[in-house]
Amino acid sequence: MQIPFFRFDGITDEVRASLEEILSSGRLTRGKFTKLFEEEFARYLGVPFLKTVNSGTTALYAALRAVDVKDQFVVVPALSFMATVDAVILAGGKPLVVDVDETYTLDLNQLEDAVKRYPVKAVVPVHLFGNMADTEAIRDLSQRYGFFVVEDAAQAHGAELKGVKAGAWGDAAAFSFYATKNVAMGEGGAVAATNPSVAERLQKLLDFGEEPAFNFRLSEFQSAVGLHSLRKLDENNRRRREIAARYNESFEGRFGLQKERGYCVYHVYSLRHPQRDLIVKMLNERGVATKVYYSYLLHELRETEHLPTPFAERLRDELFALPIYPSLTDEEVSFVIETVLQVLEEL
Ligand SMILES: Cc1ncc(COP(=O)(O)O)c(C=O)c1O
Repeated sequence: MQIPFFRFDGITDEVRASLEEILSSGRLTRGKFTKLFEEEFARYLGVPFLKTVNSGTTALYAALRAVDVKDQFVVVPALSFMATVDAVILAGGKPLVVDVDETYTLDLNQLEDAVKRYPVKAVVPVHLFGNMADTEAIRDLSQRYGFFVVEDAAQAHGAELKGVKAGAWGDAAAFSFYATKNVAMGEGGAVAATNPSVAERLQKLLDFGEEPAFNFRLSEFQSAVGLHSLRKLDENNRRRREIAARYNESFEGRFGLQKERGYCVYHVYSLRHPQRDLIVKMLNERGVATKVYYSYLLHELRETEHLPTPFAERLRDELFALPIYPSLTDEEVSFVIETVLQVLEEL
């Protein structure tokens, strides 16, 4: 058996029909599908403001411009995709990198240390692999220390903490709809806001007007693909969690596991092991595709201030990811589990 790391199964007859509808209408941008997507996703998240943009990176950039981080410190976790730190730099901010904890999201003690030591304008909690950062505690800290919270929810569509969705906790939040994401349209993003003054600035930035800005718009085609993906999100997240539960049960005590916070939507399922490189090589040889997330830390990649990051360094060296997507069958999941356990025996 060969298990690919990812398989996109979102091009259904309904999607084809919507794409046909766009072609025959001749309205290729700013039409019905973008409007519907924005309305439905805002309602789903429970946020008063949401605009689509052309990627998750630009969503994060726009959100950071809207809270105005120019020449100011912005806290980001050490372990994330590079776009998290790049968006800060592009928006003119100064990244301040802190460690992550066993949930693989911002370590709260370090975060508090950072906001005591530096004048921090904004904090970017990343809900890594679909697992919630402690947005409740971060919001409390933001009230005490006076910083904006800009969630990087690129991997966390539908994740929840205490009944509030990822993306509805912060002053603003960024989503990505890249092809592999839990809501996917190929390329695309959205920026949400709960803070009215941030929403107002975003509106100005995104609509060609008072301030110089790029054209961030999505096409109708992408919005249509994303709309159908959004409508399947809850069902797909349940399937991801079912697969993760089987993995957890099989690997508990044998590998390091990400500690769940809230309703984790498992955009990525990861394991950690000191012999990661050998395990990955053996799995790939036996038909189980894997991926290493992330082989770098953000302060190794770009020039930043940073606090000590011992746990993130360990994760950089030990983490790898197994296939997890809604169309993975029970038999395929069993094959992955058996192969991983076999490899572990042979180490
Ligand atoms: C945590 C995180 N932030 C930001 C991004 C950027 O999104 P995009 O690739 O749509 O620009 C991604 C995804 O790729 C991501 O995983």
